Amino acid sequence: MNADSRTRLDQTSEWAALSKHREQLGEVQLRDLFAADPARGTAYTLQVGDLHIDYSKHLVTGETLTLLRELAAATDVFGLRDAMFRGEKINTTEDRAVLHTALRAPRDAVIEVDGENVVPAVHAVLDKMSAFSERVRSGEWTGHTGKRIKNVVNIGIGGSDLGPAMAYEVLRSFTDRDLTVRFVSNVDGADLHEAVRDLDPAETLFIIASKTFTTIETITNATSARDWLLTGLKADQDAVAKHFVALSTNAEKVSDFGIDTANMFEFWDWVGGRYSYDSAIGLSLMIAIGPDRFREMLDGFHLVDEHFRTAPAESNVPLLMGLLGIWYGNFHDAQSHAVLPYSHYLSKFTAYLQQLDMESNGKYVGRDGKEVGWQTGPVVWGTPGTNGQHAYYQLIHQGTKLIPADFIGFAEPVADLLPGLVAQHDLLMANFFAQTQALAFGKTPDEVRAEGVAEELVPHKTFKGNHPTTTILAKSLTPSVLGQLIALYEHKVFVQGAVWNIDSFDQWGVELGKVLAKRVEPALTEGAEVPDLDGSTTALVAKYRDLRGR
Ligand code: F6P
Repeated sequence: MNADSRTRLDQTSEWAALSKHREQLGEVQLRDLFAADPARGTAYTLQVGDLHIDYSKHLVTGETLTLLRELAAATDVFGLRDAMFRGEKINTTEDRAVLHTALRAPRDAVIEVDGENVVPAVHAVLDKMSAFSERVRSGEWTGHTGKRIKNVVNIGIGGSDLGPAMAYEVLRSFTDRDLTVRFVSNVDGADLHEAVRDLDPAETLFIIASKTFTTIETITNATSARDWLLTGLKADQDAVAKHFVALSTNAEKVSDFGIDTANMFEFWDWVGGRYSYDSAIGLSLMIAIGPDRFREMLDGFHLVDEHFRTAPAESNVPLLMGLLGIWYGNFHDAQSHAVLPYSHYLSKFTAYLQQLDMESNGKYVGRDGKEVGWQTGPVVWGTPGTNGQHAYYQLIHQGTKLIPADFIGFAEPVADLLPGLVAQHDLLMANFFAQTQALAFGKTPDEVRAEGVAEELVPHKTFKGNHPTTTILAKSLTPSVLGQLIALYEHKVFVQGAVWNIDSFDQWGVELGKVLAKRVEPALTEGAEVPDLDGSTTALVAKYRDLRGR
């Protein structure tokens, strides 16, 4: 379906039907939905791979789901999905294919971009990464002085940082614990300082991760890291080859920086930055967990890719998750979406999803070049659940906003947890189950009174409930399960972008700030006059210079 010719979303009959249905449902109560259908807790569930998905605690009926699927059909979500998997250039504003799914395709798959099968190149890079990882892990790859590499520092930002940094945390129990792996992203020198201050340069490998190899934060940090290394080793440029490798699509810039392109791990312009950690961008992770575990993770991604590609609408989990988000964002005015993992290892998971979701779908212009007239991507937020319970859950339970949330938990603690800590897992998971129960069903005034609560406190202790949640439960947090989870969210974001008719794969909105920072910097350092600088910024720059004694 052509993006320009399709009927505006809010003028489709399917949109109108959903609006009407929303009015008819009114303030439907989860308590009533469960009372009316005792099987709801098992009927409203799906399984994909190792992930059990419970969507029973949503403000939906069978009719809601049918109408949402009709909206997906009317907006040809599956048509665009197929075009993506076929390698068509669905990122129209950049004229690029969108093929992160090819990064985890099996060796014998055939996926063509401009008539060329990209799968052999994907596997050639994976093989090169595997060989390099093994050399580092085994100690065969040594630094300039002949010392074994004990520290790996990934320097990158956005998609060249968040993915591997998140996955390294998630899979810590699978990592080589003798290796120190750190991630530097912020151009604030404090980030690099804290990452290297206790490291021996002779034992340190820097991985410079940048799709474009022009990102100012990354190139600045990489340059500083190179200075730190050469100063520490009292060596010249020759030492760089044993301590710096690059992950990029831009061989020319890598070479300009002084990194031998033999030590460059390539990826391609059809991999978006925020969809790239299963490409060469995952090298730090692969060194940490080993190539076999990395490939298990890729298999997990692929499993969900295949599910998304082939499962019928009724049982297609990314489709369902995307449509539920549309139900709340477009028909209940929900502004945000919380992702609340009940695993300490998922502490960076939501930060990763913020880029995936908000950089993809934070857009007000449609694929037809016109302003959309409907809400698009939500604010995605959240931290590990138990900590959140003692911080912001108050607002979710008793605030005035509707905040749909995903709860993610695991039946088993990680395998290498100290035996004395294993018992804590049931307490963690008791909280996991209790919270979605409380959010859905709340506590009525009568239930509060029955506890003998003084009448004036009854309103304060009443929980209206009716807060929708999805529960995602798996047996354990393995590399494959991580891949499954990430692919699930990637495709959920895809579904929403397709319905909203936006290009989920460009990110023009980050450009203006970059350009302005370049213009303003000379004003800070040299007091240079910046033409057309607004009054507020001019005064702030003057204040800054004053505070710096300039
Ligand atoms: O600023 C946005 C962005 O372009 C992201 O999309 C990307 O992940 C990040 O910057 C880093 O870009 P690069 O990998 O080219 O350094």
